[in-house]
Amino acid sequence: MPITTCIFDAYGTLFDVAAAARQAASEPDYAAIKHDWPQLAEHWRNKQLNYSWLRAVTGAHCDFWQVTQEGLDWALEKTGHHGDGALRERLLQLYWELGAYAEVPAMLQTLKAAGLNTGILSNGSPAMLRGAVDSANIDRVLDALLSVESVGIFKPDARVYDLVGAEFGCAKEQVLFVSSNGWDAAAATGYGFTTAWVNRGGEPMDRLPWKPAHTLNDLTGIPALAGI
Ligand code: LAC
Repeated sequence: MPITTCIFDAYGTLFDVAAAARQAASEPDYAAIKHDWPQLAEHWRNKQLNYSWLRAVTGAHCDFWQVTQEGLDWALEKTGHHGDGALRERLLQLYWELGAYAEVPAMLQTLKAAGLNTGILSNGSPAMLRGAVDSANIDRVLDALLSVESVGIFKPDARVYDLVGAEFGCAKEQVLFVSSNGWDAAAATGYGFTTAWVNRGGEPMDRLPWKPAHTLNDLTGIPALAGI
C-alpha cells in the first residue's frame, strides 16, 4: 500500500533537544555550564524520557512540560548546578523555542508539494508543540500537531499511535512514522506503521522485539522513503 501520511516525532527528530544547553553554555551569563553542558543535556533527556515511561506504566500521567522540568531539576542537581534559578529558567525558555534541524523545512515542503499528509505525533503538550513549531516557522507545512494529551498517556502506548488513523482516516500501512528515538521507531513498527529511525549519532539499535524498517543519518531521505 503506498504511503499517504508522514508522521514525525518532535523532540530529537524535528527539533534539536541538545540545542537548549548548547546555546545557554555559549552565553556569558551561563558560563557555569561551559564545560559540562553535554552531560547536563544527556542527563536531562534521559530523565525526561525515564519519567515519561514510569508515569505511563504506573498510570500517574502529567503533561510533558512537567516531566521536562522534573528531568531538568534532576540533571541540574546531578551536575552540581542545583539552585541556579536563572540557569534553570533560561534552559526552559530555550527548550520552549528549540530550532528545527536544518533540513526540516525543505523536507516537509517536498512532502506537502507531493500531496502527502504531514503531522507531528509527540509526547509534547499542545502548547509546547505550538511554541516549537512557531519558532521553527514550519506551521504551514504540517497538517496536524497530535499530542499525547488527547489520550492522557505517553508513548509508546498504542493509544498514542491510534491518534494518526483517527486524524487522517488512513490505514497503518499507509503511514511512514519517523523518529530519532530508537524505542519509538521500534514500538511504532510493532504497532504496524512503516518506520524510519533517524540515527544522527550512530547509536546502536535498541534491543527490542521490533526493528525499524529503515535507518537514516538525517531527514533528507524521507521523501524517497515516502515514494516521491
Ligand atoms: C516526543 C519525544 C519522545 O516528541 O521526543 O514524543
